[in-house]
Amino acid sequence: MSQSDPPQYTWAGRFSEPTSELVKRYTASVRFDQRMWRQDIRASLAHATMLARQGIIAAADLADIERGMAQVASEIESGAFLWSIDLEDVHLNIEKRLTTLIGDAGKRLHTGRSRNDQVATDIRLYLRDAIDDIDVLLGEFQNRLLDLAEREAATPLPGFTHLQVAQPVTFGHHLLAYVEMTRRDAERFADCRRRTNRLPLGAAALAGTTYPIDRHYVAALLGFDAVCENSLDAVSDRDFTIEFCAASALLMMHLSRLSEELVLWMNPRFGFITLADRFCTGSSIMPQKRNPDVPELARGKTGRVFGHLVGLLTLMKGQPLAYNKDNQEDKEPLFDAIDTVTDTLRIFIEMIPGITANPENMRSALRQGFATATDLADYLTRKGLPFRDAHEAVGLAVRRAEELGMDLAQLSLTDLRQFSPLIDDDVFAVLTVEGSLAARNHHGATAPEQVRAAIARARSPT
Ligand code: ARG
Repeated sequence: MSQSDPPQYTWAGRFSEPTSELVKRYTASVRFDQRMWRQDIRASLAHATMLARQGIIAAADLADIERGMAQVASEIESGAFLWSIDLEDVHLNIEKRLTTLIGDAGKRLHTGRSRNDQVATDIRLYLRDAIDDIDVLLGEFQNRLLDLAEREAATPLPGFTHLQVAQPVTFGHHLLAYVEMTRRDAERFADCRRRTNRLPLGAAALAGTTYPIDRHYVAALLGFDAVCENSLDAVSDRDFTIEFCAASALLMMHLSRLSEELVLWMNPRFGFITLADRFCTGSSIMPQKRNPDVPELARGKTGRVFGHLVGLLTLMKGQPLAYNKDNQEDKEPLFDAIDTVTDTLRIFIEMIPGITANPENMRSALRQGFATATDLADYLTRKGLPFRDAHEAVGLAVRRAEELGMDLAQLSLTDLRQFSPLIDDDVFAVLTVEGSLAARNHHGATAPEQVRAAIARARSPT
């Protein structure tokens, strides 16, 4: 290489020819890792502060680095910053610009660290912020569900098993099931955050560094709960991204179930809910259509998050210690999982208040499904008939009602007594949907009173 050759990679000192363009494009990550620029700058400033405090760099160097980084940040913020794939990744792009701005102090910033511990730190900071955002969004999502559940605490809805009408439930109770699911999701994210929130910096390339660094000080500056205990582990594992994707996959699985129910309930054959027009789309050919695109897409996007979980597991499988370039492949799946979960929660938060229940359609489905048949069997059992015999008697009664095109509650007392002489006119109280709901009156059950109590518990801070 002659003096006039274009500038090469910062690490190119021992190389005899420039990297091929194809290799540059293949190996560069700046296109997708630039979104961690805030974390990269924040971690660099903490590192520099520690270096100055330990007397590894001069106070004047730190002052230059702080000034230069402020300038870099404002250039990135304004869009003026020129990202270059010649500089491979977010770390080298920022460091290079800093050095152009402030000279030697910029070159001292990398003392006692490596991009291996730098990138691991940036990802952890980025993911920690993302988990905090998701936590807030999950809380809002639950609040919207709770508001709707409160409004519909006593609205009878057919509860299904095997997608066949089973027993009446309240619509509020049904919605609270999703509050429970997403509360467990929130616990999983919080748990993942605890393990994410440890500082890798100081591990340097893999073995630690010869400088008298203070990792605990850097951890405190960056709000990490602790430092990673082992330098090899710190730079090489990405299990926290896998954990995050696992928690995300479960959340998306829950949201896909809710999505599927919304799609079904919006179908005119069910007609249980109406979704505000702003969440529906039309068809370019069929003028009558009103399609539930948002829940359909949420259901579909679940697949990509499952894919990212498997992708990251496969990425890490069989990697020898310590850092390998394979790890650069952690970012796109992680970022896409974060975006998908965040966007899906945001859109549900807006969509849930746009749901209107259609109680008449819910009630007519309950009637057609003989939803209070179990209540009649329980009634006979309370009067002394063994449950299996009661089950059979009610089965015959349902058959009779079906022949007559009637609901059980519409059969006359004489008709009903054909199936068991134990039936009296107090039977009609249990055959009504309201009676059936009110009778399931214990912690965790569907009675309106219990639904309201559950909502109050969910709303009270724990
Ligand atoms: N862009 C790299 C990544 O995402 C940063 C670490 C590179 N380290 C290295 N030794 N090449 O993993």
